[in-house]
Amino acid sequence: MLRQLPAETAHRATLALARLAAPLLPAPAPDDPRLAVSAFGLDFPNPVGLAAGFDKNAEVPDALLRLGFGFVEIGTVTPLPQPGNPRPRLFRLPPDEGVINRLGFNSEGGDAVLRRLAMRVGAGGIVGVNVGANKDSKDRIADYVKQIEMFAPVASYFTCNISSPNTPGLRDLQQGRVFDELLARVMEARSRMNRKAGTTPVLIKIAPDLTLSELDDVVGAARRHRVDGMMIGNTTVLRPAWLRDRETAHEPGGLSGRPLFALATRMLAETYVRVENAFPLVGVGGIDSGETALAKIRAGACLVQLYSALVFHGFGLVGRINRSLVDALRSGQYASIGDLVGADAAAMTAEPWPE
Ligand SMILES: Cc1cc2nc3c(=O)[nH]c(=O)nc-3n(C[C@H](O)[C@H](O)[C@H](O)COP(=O)(O)O)c2cc1C
Repeated sequence: MLRQLPAETAHRATLALARLAAPLLPAPAPDDPRLAVSAFGLDFPNPVGLAAGFDKNAEVPDALLRLGFGFVEIGTVTPLPQPGNPRPRLFRLPPDEGVINRLGFNSEGGDAVLRRLAMRVGAGGIVGVNVGANKDSKDRIADYVKQIEMFAPVASYFTCNISSPNTPGLRDLQQGRVFDELLARVMEARSRMNRKAGTTPVLIKIAPDLTLSELDDVVGAARRHRVDGMMIGNTTVLRPAWLRDRETAHEPGGLSGRPLFALATRMLAETYVRVENAFPLVGVGGIDSGETALAKIRAGACLVQLYSALVFHGFGLVGRINRSLVDALRSGQYASIGDLVGADAAAMTAEPWPE
């Protein structure tokens, strides 16, 4: 029924349903202990998280945790409220199971989101806060710093989103000296806040569209500044030639879902071989089954996230992926997810570049 509605209306309806259903949802059954993952000081009950963008304003994080996610990332939040781009700005590509969005950081702003997160303190569950910069900000790096200071008492972890293609110039924060300055200021804020609010890990979310030489620089700087982890990655501005929904494919914005899988997984493997276990990686992009989640883990991710596949397969997918991961561990006689992380990374980097 939701798929008959325009994409953004369907999304609003899903959030409203989640809010209504939240008090009725039973607590999920405990996860199989083999699915547990410890990363950047947090203990995840299972490795399957909800990616940023679904619950931008922290309206329903607890309902989402009850649907079986091991963790939920809210945001992207911007310090000040902003409306984002004009509609329509969200498009489905049904034959490709892809999504194109150019939402442009529509956000209720830091204060509104902080109020909601403060109300759930003590509720348990891992809720990360994905932070970004206002479109008209004079000092974009300060927007990240400000929000790390603001959300440190309520965030399980932070993701600095410097890879959305829908805020002009945002991706430039991944380049050279600017990236170095971003990391210096963000990690300084993290240490300063850690003294007040306990450790809140900071992860960096990158674009799958970096060149390999840009990736060398990004990983080098991330290692120098000792970030807690990286997420690979955000949506792509590229359009594979084989997309079937040619008409929608022309819409500007970031492409996600199945058509992103091969590129994002390759970039994940490329990142893994460069990081050399200095910090953990989160694999995002095109996960729609147990097999694709396992492929991300074998490419180097100890945690995964998904969003677009929910549009086509619903929330039942989360439990199916976790069950399928347990089956894979059992049949290979592995004790935990950790035994599989990066198993295929080196081999993947030798394959032809994905089309
Ligand atoms: C509608 C939509 C909105 C998104 N908004 C954000 C966002 O605000 N911040 C962010 O870091 N990523 C955002 N993303 C990117 C997702 O978090 C994820 O990185 C990307 O979609 C790839 O995962 P998927 O193929 O499972 O969707 C958004 C994606 C979609 C489809």
